[in-house]
Amino acid sequence: MSDSIRLDCRVAVVTGAAGVIGAATMRLLAARGARIVAVDRREADLAAATAGLPASAETFAVAADVTDEDQVAAYVRQACNRFGTIDVFFNNAGIEGEIKPITAYPLEAFRRVLDVNVVGVFLGLKHVLPVMLKQNRGSIINTASIAGLIGSPQIAVYSASKHAVIGLTKSASWECTGTNVRVNCICPGLIESRMLSAIIEGRSGAPVPADKVVDRVPARRLGQGAEVAAIVAFLASDDASYVSGAAYTVDGGRTAA
Ligand SMILES: NC(=O)c1ccc[n+]([C@@H]2O[C@H](COP(=O)([O-])OP(=O)(O)OC[C@H]3O[C@@H](n4cnc5c(N)ncnc54)[C@H](O)[C@@H]3O)[C@@H](O)[C@H]2O)c1
Repeated sequence: MSDSIRLDCRVAVVTGAAGVIGAATMRLLAARGARIVAVDRREADLAAATAGLPASAETFAVAADVTDEDQVAAYVRQACNRFGTIDVFFNNAGIEGEIKPITAYPLEAFRRVLDVNVVGVFLGLKHVLPVMLKQNRGSIINTASIAGLIGSPQIAVYSASKHAVIGLTKSASWECTGTNVRVNCICPGLIESRMLSAIIEGRSGAPVPADKVVDRVPARRLGQGAEVAAIVAFLASDDASYVSGAAYTVDGGRTAA
């Protein structure tokens, strides 16, 4: 009997692959049998992240900036040339931006966050969807955040950008009506990572004790990249065959209240 959570021979493109969540997800997708195309703008860190994959995994890395349409078209083309298609797209690259109240937020910094988190996700959808629609098969998982569901002081643009990712996800899901292409997003909560530390320290001006950080999280701990990866791998798999247009929280209950 085939195991519907397996991803044997599926081609998975992962952006933000050098980061905590991207790298953890690549590891799990590869462990489930997927062939990996790893995309990030940080070339050296990308090489380190792919070096950590199992030797058996078929992998190649593409240094690209997700805000540049030519570079997005190029990573899609390279994935198709190398592996013949794209079955899974983890549209995940993102930045937190500066940590400042709206009244002090520089316009250029505001635009930069929208450029990476919204335009980058849009361009990924624009260039990967035609590949999947043509073959009438595929799963796209965009990375939003719980900041896309609730307000977040001092990262208003990050929150706005992640609300936009949820809107893009739902709209793209509708645009795949009548096909076997599914589009979902994930909303991670407080995940142990560089990004979370940057936001917490940026808000308070100093490191915050771990118990204070999680005092509004019912799980009473931070999440791990691997726990986010598990939801991405589920959404990528045939086990999620009836799931589209959804925003999956992975937040230890943080937004349950
Ligand atoms: N860490 C968290 O707690 C958390 C919570 C919710 C959502 N998220 C989201 O998860 C995603 C991954 O976050 P992470 O914690 O792994 O962060 P990270 O900073 O470790 O990884 C993000 C990766 O994206 C890459 N990247 C940024 N801009 C890029 C661009 N223009 N082109 C190509 N690559 C680019 C970076 O080089 C980096 O490797 C992001 O979209 C983030 O907003 C993170």
